[in-house]
Amino acid sequence: MAELIKVKALKKEYKMGKITVPALNGVDITINEGEFVAIMGPSGSGKSTLMHILGCLDTPTAGFYSLENEEVSNMKKSKLAAIRNKQIGFVFQTFNLLPHMNVQKNVELPLMYGGYSKRKRSRMAKKVLSEVGLSERLKHKPSELSGGQRQRVAIARAIVNDPAIILADEPTGNLDTNSGNDILGIFSELHAQGHTIIIVTHDSYVAKRADKVINIVDGLIQEIEETQKTDATAGN
Ligand SMILES: Nc1ncnc2c1ncn2[C@@H]1O[C@H](COP(=O)(O)OP(=O)(O)OP(=O)(O)O)[C@@H](O)[C@H]1O
Ligand SMILES: [Mg+2]
Repeated sequence: MAELIKVKALKKEYKMGKITVPALNGVDITINEGEFVAIMGPSGSGKSTLMHILGCLDTPTAGFYSLENEEVSNMKKSKLAAIRNKQIGFVFQTFNLLPHMNVQKNVELPLMYGGYSKRKRSRMAKKVLSEVGLSERLKHKPSELSGGQRQRVAIARAIVNDPAIILADEPTGNLDTNSGNDILGIFSELHAQGHTIIIVTHDSYVAKRADKVINIVDGLIQEIEETQKTDATAGN
C-alpha cells in the first residue's frame, strides 16, 4: 500500500504571551492509502492539534510532514489552503456549517475555488447530499435540521471534492447514539469506497473496526495498535 501521510518528530507549541503551551512533543506516524485510522487519547492530549496539522489547517512548530510524497511542513498558508481544498475533507465535532446558507449552498462552498460552473456545482452537491440521505433537505438552513442531519451535511461538504483523505474530529461527539451510528456507517461506506479515513473517537466500537489505532497521551504517541488483516480483507 502506498504511503499517504508521513509525520516525523512533529512538534507543536502554542504561544500565549510569555507562556508556551506544548501540545505535540515529537510525533511519528505513517498512514497508508485507504487505511481507516482511529486516534484516541484523553482530553488535552493533542488529538485536535494533530488533526489540524494533518488537515493542513495549522502548521507544526517543528518536525516533518509529507502528504502524498510532498513536504507540507514548511508550506505557506496559501499553498496549504490549495492542498486542503483538493485533497482533504474535514469534519468537525460542531459541524461548522454556515448558518445563513442553505444545505446545498454549504456543500457547494468547497467547489467555489475549483472553477466549476454553477450548474456543475449544483449537480455535484445534490449527488453527495443524496448519498448521505438528504435529498429532501436541500433548501433548509442548518438551524432547521437535527444534529445528525447537520453532521451529514458536513460530511457531504467534506466529500464533494472527492478528497483522498477524510479527517473527522469526534464527529459523533454531539450526537445521540443512533445518529452517531448512522454517521459512523457513512464513514465505513466511504472507507469501503477507497477513501483514507482518520477519525478521533472515544468509541472503542469504532476503534475495533479501524486498521490502526493511535493512542496519544501528553502530546506523544503511546501506542499504535495495528489490526492484522488476512489476505481476503487486505487492500479493500
Ligand atoms: N489555540 C490554542 N492555544 C493555546 N493552547 C492550545 C490551543 N489549542 C489547544 N491548546 C492546548 O494544547 C493541548 C492539546 O489540545 P488539543 O485540543 O489538541 O487536545 P485534544 O486531545 O483534542 O482534547 P479534547 O479531547 O478535549 O478535544 C491542550 O493542553 C490545550 O490546552
Ligand atoms: Mg479535541
